[in-house]
Amino acid sequence: MGQLTGKHALVTGGARGLGAGMAEALAAAGASVMIGDILVELGQATAKAISDKGAKAGFVALDVTDEASWEKAVAATIAEVGGFDILINNAGVEITSLVIDVKPADLRRMCEVNIVGVALGMKHAFRAMKPGGPAGKGGAIVSIASVAATIAFPGIVGYSGTKSAVDRMTRVAAMEAGKLGYGVRVNCIYPGLVPTDMGMQLAGDVVAAGLFPSVEAAVGAVVEQTPLGRLGDVSEMADVVVFLCTDAARFITGAGIPVDGGMGT
Ligand SMILES: NC(=O)c1ccc[n+]([C@@H]2O[C@H](COP(=O)([O-])OP(=O)(O)OC[C@H]3O[C@@H](n4cnc5c(N)ncnc54)[C@H](O)[C@@H]3O)[C@@H](O)[C@H]2O)c1
Repeated sequence: MGQLTGKHALVTGGARGLGAGMAEALAAAGASVMIGDILVELGQATAKAISDKGAKAGFVALDVTDEASWEKAVAATIAEVGGFDILINNAGVEITSLVIDVKPADLRRMCEVNIVGVALGMKHAFRAMKPGGPAGKGGAIVSIASVAATIAFPGIVGYSGTKSAVDRMTRVAAMEAGKLGYGVRVNCIYPGLVPTDMGMQLAGDVVAAGLFPSVEAAVGAVVEQTPLGRLGDVSEMADVVVFLCTDAARFITGAGIPVDGGMGT
């Protein structure tokens, strides 16, 4: 029996990268898992890979910026995997720019996905999980902020702002959930740089912005600032997410946990 046997999770942005790893880890811990993403074919393939290993897993098309899309995704999670106790607010976008070159459309896109998307996730999870809601058994929300919310790294002004918002929204949501008796714990993690599609794109983009001479130098600057002296990997983020969803974390809410090898120290 896994620590999450009998639990039901929705992982946004779970088609690839950190979200896919988190979905796999939640399933390995015993949870049934729904992947929600705008990447339909990849999301379906990731869900199939999880169900091929014996877990209950499904896919639902979800654009986290869209309220109606959330309503459908939550209903599909309850109907297809049998409940809704865990939300991983993982979907996110990063568009690199120096402050001096920043574009309103890029800032708005990051606000839409990283802030509006996470807040709507909290909203729909609370509505479904609280007593009397269609899932109704309480639960846990983990949002994926970033070390970018805790340090200053050049080239990511908009991204850092939106991830700082995720951090602060986590505290407010945890306070409301506690005060209003929803039975939902709300936490976030601050991952360090992980070489996913997004992580490697960022490393290339800060080179293109003229901040570093090469991708190796950009990655080297991150490693240099990291006490554990290396980048993190997907499983290291996923393990902490699983922990925050289990009963072992039953007295933890409103917290932001660095999973960054000490970079934000
Ligand atoms: N990789 C890193 O170094 C790193 C570090 C810190 C935090 N993070 C955060 O972790 C999360 C996952 O990052 P990743 O590296 O796996 O990125 P990724 O780009 O590899 O994957 C992101 C996923 O989110 C999905 N997505 C994007 N917009 C969406 C939307 N509107 N609705 C639904 N899904 C959407 C994408 O389709 C994709 O599957 C993000 O929130 C990111 O900001 C990543």
